[in-house]
Amino acid sequence: MDNLKTNFGKRKVSTKLKTKLVQDVFTNVASNYDLMNDIMSFGSHRLWKKELIDLMNVQEDENIIDVGSGTGDLINLILKLKKNNNIYAVDLNSEMLKYSEKRHKNKNVTFVRANAEKLPFNNSSIDKYIISFCLRNVTDIQDALKESYRILKPGGVFYCLEFSSPESSLIKNLYNQYKKNIIPWIGSKVAKNKEAYKYLEESIDQFPSQKKLVLLLNKIGFMNSNYLNIFNGIVSIHIAYKI
Ligand SMILES: C[S@@+](CC[C@H](N)C(=O)[O-])C[C@H]1O[C@@H](n2cnc3c(N)ncnc32)[C@H](O)[C@@H]1O
Repeated sequence: MDNLKTNFGKRKVSTKLKTKLVQDVFTNVASNYDLMNDIMSFGSHRLWKKELIDLMNVQEDENIIDVGSGTGDLINLILKLKKNNNIYAVDLNSEMLKYSEKRHKNKNVTFVRANAEKLPFNNSSIDKYIISFCLRNVTDIQDALKESYRILKPGGVFYCLEFSSPESSLIKNLYNQYKKNIIPWIGSKVAKNKEAYKYLEESIDQFPSQKKLVLLLNKIGFMNSNYLNIFNGIVSIHIAYKI
């Protein structure tokens, strides 16, 4: 029997099963993913993503990887910059990638089906690494961070946009109620999948706090790791440098 090593939401499962269960979630929600994001965040996820891209200060010809790229919102924003970047849209889920491929018929975008924990990219080959609302779903976060470090060039930058921990206890309480009651309800009505959105709440609760993620990044070897809170820390952007 597999060892029970990790969490899928509140359930203890083997690492292999977790990867499969997470992928089942995304296969099931792929067709409603964009609509659900707009409804659940009242459209704010667009602002958060725009803020991330602005922070990245993308330069001409940079190699950029978007891991857990999903339906490709960030790819869209990068293409709009018209900086002739080589963009790699990586995701483990072929359903999610399919939506992105339909959306982006651009010669500068390469679609790659791969796990964040084992990326088919050469050492020191990428200028900017992005992982947006994906790290929380990865079975072994440390392995994914090590891979990001390995493929970044010296001077390369890591960016993670993810749900995090609000600073104010009032906002935390309101947000907890929203996550626990409203999100699964919207999931059941719109995506007809309450369980997937229950998993969303549980995975957010289990994700390391802003400060813990900084420690993890430093442990891997990143320098000047820091974060920026958005909406009081409901969401945060971590930035770290490979020197
Ligand atoms: C919540 S979506 C985020 C999509 C997009 N980045 C965004 O910000 O809207 C998470 C994505 O990560 C992908 N994913 C989950 N675990 C992964 C893994 N281990 N490796 C690569 N992609 C993964 C899922 O298939 C899904 O497309």
